[in-house]
Amino acid sequence: MTKNNRANFGSKLGVILASAGSAVGLGNIWRFPFETGNHGGAAFILIYLGCVLFFGIPIMVAEFSIGRHSRANTAGAYQKLAPGTHWRWVGRMGVLAGFLILGYYSVVAGWTLEYIVQAGMNAFAGQSANDFIASFNGFIAHPWRPALWMAVFMLMTHFIIVKGVEKGIEKSAKIMMPMLFLLLIVLAVCSVSLPGAGAGIEFLLKPDFSKVNGNVLLGAMGQAFFSLSLGMGCLCTYASYFRNDTNLPKTALNVGWIDTMVAILAGFIIFPAAFSVGIQPDAGPSLLFITLPNVFQQAFGNLPWLAVILSIMFYVLLALAALTSTISLHEVVTAYLHEEFNLTRGRAAKLVTVGCTILGVLCSLSLGIGKELTIFGLTLFDLFDFLTAKIMLPLGGFFIAIFTGWYLDKRIVWEEVSNNGTLPKVVYRIWLFLLKYIAPIGIGFIFINELGLLK
Ligand code: PHE
Repeated sequence: MTKNNRANFGSKLGVILASAGSAVGLGNIWRFPFETGNHGGAAFILIYLGCVLFFGIPIMVAEFSIGRHSRANTAGAYQKLAPGTHWRWVGRMGVLAGFLILGYYSVVAGWTLEYIVQAGMNAFAGQSANDFIASFNGFIAHPWRPALWMAVFMLMTHFIIVKGVEKGIEKSAKIMMPMLFLLLIVLAVCSVSLPGAGAGIEFLLKPDFSKVNGNVLLGAMGQAFFSLSLGMGCLCTYASYFRNDTNLPKTALNVGWIDTMVAILAGFIIFPAAFSVGIQPDAGPSLLFITLPNVFQQAFGNLPWLAVILSIMFYVLLALAALTSTISLHEVVTAYLHEEFNLTRGRAAKLVTVGCTILGVLCSLSLGIGKELTIFGLTLFDLFDFLTAKIMLPLGGFFIAIFTGWYLDKRIVWEEVSNNGTLPKVVYRIWLFLLKYIAPIGIGFIFINELGLLK
């Protein structure tokens, strides 16, 4: 693939599903529930929805425009649109964020593989909630098992990247995304019908605004950026493969609502189940791996074969949702090395895979034997999560909003966003207003508030 012969996504549905494939992942099904749990439930979700609507979708349209107009990797895109300026640092920060996210994300993705195997061996049968907690904690602290699964996951990602992403992602996304949806609905129905699930539903639907503080705001904003794959050039890189007739605002809206639906559905699976089996909603990152095996046992304990099949299917789909996201993260860094350093695509991909595997091993160890080694009181795993989701992505989003809203020639912006002039002017103006004022001021406010400068 050369610069003037870039690959394209084949169809409109493919574009939406591939972008939604990047957005929908562990962020929705694993991270969203524990962030919601840690930040008090429904009030967090409402703020999250506000962030998606007022910052997320407008910034997504901006990222799409930058990517498609420049038809380059994310650092190269700024270089093309604003040659010789410091804007390229926004792109470079995105590449770094992608590298760091891939490092710790693939650790959790690796856990899903272990759980597929465990589910297949019927290892969940007869276990109590406490057993699940103990076996999960034992597993993630193991010196090499989770690191090995992480490496396997990285290799799977590598394999698809070197094969050419477009066909692979597009095809698999078209099959997997509808299946994922169906399974999420089945599981949510099972979960809400468990005894005592009502407390979990209440937790999701009854906002308690007394719990809202700067930390909750930052958490919701970080989660919105993370979940939408925003602020680091991922969707910018994908958009560089969009065709000229792809409708950018429509695509952004579709990705936004699919991503949000999946997150909310995941909430309706995890919380009713957690409350039903007496697990605290703020149990943190382990929530998914402890409550879900429990749900399967509780709901289908007397139909063991069904419990096995459903748990295998769930972890397989979780792994695939993660895979479509790791591919998009890998692609950001690979495209950057390939185009900016004149490496072949294969060599660039190899470098990314090796680098991220090393990072992943360190992140994995930081949950076990390296637990004592902390930076700012956080393990490497938590540090990468905090640094990327809560700092780098919103900061990237802030600069993308300023770049597109204030710096970029409005003729270029209109050309990209208007879908050949068919977008109503009033919609364009509202979008531009959100991008120029609401998003940067909102993001700035949340940062400043969190730093304690407003008190
Ligand atoms: N959005 C992905 C998820 O929710 C994670 C991701 C973040 C992917 C940033 C790409 C870029 O799982």
